[in-house]
Amino acid sequence: MYNTRLTPMDLKDKSFFLRTFGCQMNESDSEKIAGILTAAGGREAERVEDADIIIVNTCAVREKSEEKLYSYLGRIRPRLDARPVLVGVAGCVAQAESANLVARRPFIDFVVGPDNYLRLPEIIERCGERTIIADEWSNDWREAPDLLFRRRSPATAAVSIMEGCDNFCSYCIVPFSRGREKFRPLRHIRAELAELAARGYQEIQFLGQNVNSYRDPETGTPFAALLFEAGHMPGLKWVRFLTSHPKTFSAAIIEAMTSSPVICRQVHLPLQSGSTSVLARMNRGYSREEYLAKITLLQERIPGISLSTDIIVGFPGETEEEFGETLSALEAVRFANIFSFRYSPRPRTSAAKGPDDVPFDIKRRRLIEVQALQKRIQSAIHESLIGTTMAVLGEGPSRKDPAMFSGRNESYQVVNFRAPTDVRGRFVRVKISGSGPYSLRGDLVED
Ligand code: 5AD
Ligand code: SF4
Repeated sequence: MYNTRLTPMDLKDKSFFLRTFGCQMNESDSEKIAGILTAAGGREAERVEDADIIIVNTCAVREKSEEKLYSYLGRIRPRLDARPVLVGVAGCVAQAESANLVARRPFIDFVVGPDNYLRLPEIIERCGERTIIADEWSNDWREAPDLLFRRRSPATAAVSIMEGCDNFCSYCIVPFSRGREKFRPLRHIRAELAELAARGYQEIQFLGQNVNSYRDPETGTPFAALLFEAGHMPGLKWVRFLTSHPKTFSAAIIEAMTSSPVICRQVHLPLQSGSTSVLARMNRGYSREEYLAKITLLQERIPGISLSTDIIVGFPGETEEEFGETLSALEAVRFANIFSFRYSPRPRTSAAKGPDDVPFDIKRRRLIEVQALQKRIQSAIHESLIGTTMAVLGEGPSRKDPAMFSGRNESYQVVNFRAPTDVRGRFVRVKISGSGPYSLRGDLVED
């Protein structure tokens, strides 16, 4: 096990505030950071104003994600003159930019990459007079000591199974910000699952940049077998996984999904583009036809499967015709949800070495078209659910109307409903009475 020096005295009487940008992996890492700092005696502050230490957990995947770090640092900058506060940057920008980051914003006290979070108490103790940069990278999995997560949800837990990526899609910074693939030993995953089930967690989500390339480093057990095992573990009610790569999404995984009702009939499978020629330039390793064939197989083997995807518009050289193929792929699959982005060049990626030649206005128009089409598709999918009754895992008050509760169904759709009691972390049955493009509405049904 990776050696850490955690004594409850290290951060005694210090409060920390965490601001997280980016994907679920970062959300999960922030739970880990909060756990590590709490174990070292620190206290999590509710408000940035009250913190002695501010840590920004960053995302580098798109230009816009990285800009969020700089605008956040700009917003907190005035506070730093008023009282002594340590500022740290964690996550993907920390890893990809490290020293550069400190050159741009000299008030940063420490920069810590994803492989160094266990060292945070020691880093915080040592920094102040000089800036500390911890961006070392290990090829082995670093297991956090037990119970070192401060989980935000009482019902849903993210379980990391791998990190990094070996795929080198031509637009993507992840292989540089998260390193090459490394897999968590299965025995640690098993121990964590058993612990979570014993503590009453209902839902687990396996996390990794490419979960389907998982192989236990000790026994070679593949992802499909892990999924099968989780689907048959007593106690867990829902099992999901994120993210899968279409190239390695195998029939064995589909079969494992059919083996147990606990494994949610839901998959996020990033398409990126519906055009085979763009996919080749993106180095995705599959054609439009191969992707659509996998979707057909999924839909045949798992009736009612809910699919979501990621789309990039305006990739270098994308013609109107190629873009049209993305629209037609969305029409063909009818995803339950999509995440769509304008292409932005990222440092060190191979696409960034060539021209970013689709004008901004065209990228913007294509993004609007993609989102308008998806809005129509989603509205129709949601409308078709009116009158049905479904299981929903309660998450908390609805963001739009705090008098309502919000939760997710098996398909990972947002469901808002009225409930007489606090149903956070509980499964309830909801009859759908209305819908919009982004959520469903309904009423609690007493069994
Ligand atoms: N430009 C735009 N979108 C990108 N993504 C990754 N890199 C870029 C980039 N350079 C998107 C992809 C990926 C998601 C996490 O972010 O769609 O699946
Ligand atoms: Fe990035 Fe491609 Fe790896 Fe996904 S598979 S993290 S898009 S390089």
